[in-house]
Amino acid sequence: MRISIGSDHAGFNLKEEIKALLAEMGHEIDDAGARSAQAHDDYPDVGIEVAQKTASGEVERGILICGTGIGMSITANKVKGAYAALCHDEFTARLSREHNNANILVLGGRTTGPDIARAITRTWLETGPQGDRHLTRRHKIIEYESRASAEEEENGSGRLKIIDHPLIQHKLAIVRDKNTNVKDFRDLVQEIAGLMVYEISRNLPLEKIDIQTPIRMTTGFSLAGKKLAVVPVLRAGLGMVEGIVRLIPNAKVGHVGAYRDPNTLSPVDYYCKLPTDISERDIFVLDPMLATGGTASYAIADIKKKGGRRISLVSLIAAPEGVKKVSSEHPEVDIFTAALDTCLNEHGYIVPGLGDAGDRLFGTQ
Ligand code: RB5
Repeated sequence: MRISIGSDHAGFNLKEEIKALLAEMGHEIDDAGARSAQAHDDYPDVGIEVAQKTASGEVERGILICGTGIGMSITANKVKGAYAALCHDEFTARLSREHNNANILVLGGRTTGPDIARAITRTWLETGPQGDRHLTRRHKIIEYESRASAEEEENGSGRLKIIDHPLIQHKLAIVRDKNTNVKDFRDLVQEIAGLMVYEISRNLPLEKIDIQTPIRMTTGFSLAGKKLAVVPVLRAGLGMVEGIVRLIPNAKVGHVGAYRDPNTLSPVDYYCKLPTDISERDIFVLDPMLATGGTASYAIADIKKKGGRRISLVSLIAAPEGVKKVSSEHPEVDIFTAALDTCLNEHGYIVPGLGDAGDRLFGTQ
């Protein structure tokens, strides 16, 4: 594992101790300083550097050490995507991974001796995150982060909704697995899209109707004549259509053809066919992978040009970059996703993601 480690002067000695442990364990070390115990390096400088490298995925984990560990944790947790945990024993180290999926370990050079610091570090590196309720809670943090940063940058309201129902998360883990075959992948994508319908249709208006049960008259509810349109972005969006129209059979289906140029990563459009009354419909744009956001944003703009007004975007996995782009260019658009991943890699793929959804759906890999 590639690990960035940094300290201020007060954490320098312990940093050297932990570096020796990392080397023994076979990890690759990126030393962000300090270079000696005398230098008066300020913890925010080193803390921000290590936190940024960790949050961006340049390194897999970070380790920060100052006198108490407090300054480093406050600093690192200001960086979006950095989840820093100050640990004083193996128990907190283990739980910071299992419950919080902390990607940065913080230690106090003046509070924690070298032996216990070694034990903490080893446990922290060897423990993985747990799902279930802990995953739900972590998603709440990520969701808040995305919303807050979009607002801060005045790029719109960032109307992101992560649908983290356990069934969806379970199926999503299978589609992420590179060993899942084309048939199962295809079925699962449709199933996940279907499960997402409950959330994306949550605000559809209802009207009261009178019905006669076998026992007596009562009042029930009916969807208030709402017109819906489902618009997959070709070609990967096609993989979600059936799952949705199975539950909303009256929805009309339009198509937008746009692909991402692999060299420029910019969207290129080649097709747009929408229901003629698109301006009267609530529109769900389907694109399983919201990566750079370029294609989705382009498709939404295309639909707006043709009169579409009430638009939501539905993806399986989103990257923060894509959420930011769509939120800034279309601040009124709700973004539904089953997972908000870490970042994009240099090829524009979502990390960890699931690879190329189109290839995996159609077996063209
Ligand atoms: C430096 O004297 C000390 O303030 C720093 O290492 C850290 O403990 C801050 O939280």
